[in-house]
Amino acid sequence: MKNFTISIPVEVFSYSELSPQHAQLVDLARRYTDNAYSPYSKFRVGAAILLDNGQIVCGANQENVAYPSGTCAERSACFAAGAQFPGVAFRAIAIASVGTDGLVPQDPTAPCGACRQALLEYETLAGRDVQVILAGRDKVYVLPSVKSLLPLAFSEF
Ligand code: THU
Repeated sequence: MKNFTISIPVEVFSYSELSPQHAQLVDLARRYTDNAYSPYSKFRVGAAILLDNGQIVCGANQENVAYPSGTCAERSACFAAGAQFPGVAFRAIAIASVGTDGLVPQDPTAPCGACRQALLEYETLAGRDVQVILAGRDKVYVLPSVKSLLPLAFSEF
């Protein structure tokens, strides 16, 4: 038997340590939590995607009375980016949230499995890594790529 270990690098920044571009993405992701439609969970998530053409496309979670018909902030942003700017590569995505208590969670919110899979499609299309920036209350995680969040991903059929 052989084995291997998969580990992922996570850089931890305070907000003041972020580059201006990353700070701008975090600001937008935080602002878009206001645009969440989440009457059922009362959990607000915002996402901001930086594209290769310099445009930033944002999203927020949009829920539905038929729960599975709603979608997460990350997918609302990534599908909007794909629809508005087809073929333009993603560079980075920032994600922020506000908890059911109305406070920004101490630990950054990470994308769900379905959003990781959806984002991986656009990273593959981009042909290079898309940085993932996860904003918590006092700390911001920066991951080098979507695939780092989805090891052993399904890719070929
Ligand atoms: N949600 C997101 O928008 N992004 C995530 O990464 C995790 C969860 C949303 C889905 C649902 O509207 C609410 O948060 C609670 O799960």
